[in-house]
Amino acid sequence: MKKVFIVANWKSNIVEPSSWIQQTQDRTQNSEKEIIVCPSFTSLPILKSCIFNHKSSILLGAQDISPFGEGAYTGEVNGKQIKEFADYVIIGHSERRKHFGETEAIVQKKIEQAVESGLTPIICVSEEDQIAKIKDQIQNLKLKTLETKTLIAYEPLFAIGSGNSDSAQNAENIAYQIKNGLGEVSVLYGGSVNAKNVHDFTQMEHIDGVLVGSASLDVEEFKDIIKNA
Ligand code: PGA
Repeated sequence: MKKVFIVANWKSNIVEPSSWIQQTQDRTQNSEKEIIVCPSFTSLPILKSCIFNHKSSILLGAQDISPFGEGAYTGEVNGKQIKEFADYVIIGHSERRKHFGETEAIVQKKIEQAVESGLTPIICVSEEDQIAKIKDQIQNLKLKTLETKTLIAYEPLFAIGSGNSDSAQNAENIAYQIKNGLGEVSVLYGGSVNAKNVHDFTQMEHIDGVLVGSASLDVEEFKDIIKNA
């Protein structure tokens, strides 16, 4: 049976961490599903303690990473700092590309920093040309670090935060296309995933999980996403 990843992207929202962890914990016990929560940087330490206190198996991810290592880069949080708290990091989310001018070159540097720091990158792509570029980047990385585990999240722009997800069949076709030639990557679908539609995606052969934005803020909905995935 394939391992299903369910990634919660809280974006720049404020969520009460302790009860969220406690409630989702009930659902994750004895589950094969890998639940990863990605809060703002400032919430990583408190979430780490909540996970410890509730003996939760939930894993932590950051939503971004500096394209540089340690040094004089005011305002940045580097991979080594993230690794103190988290195992995963989202890279190249379309909101970062749109609002913060993140280019492919920056995305590439961030992927390299993540890998160097021992973080698993969750690389977001939304368009065909990005998919082609990411394929090149992953292939280059594989030449350098054979052991890199990588997650790629296909998130079409029209589906993010709109309530209109992509069709599961189209997402499956894209997931197949991403995996074709890349081998060992896991592919997630993201964009208006909720408790009702999550299984349409996770039942597909080449889709290994989902990246959930707004529906992850509502803990009851998120618990149902975990149950139904
Ligand atoms: P959404 O966001 O689930 O609110 O559509 C997904 C994402 O941006 O990662």
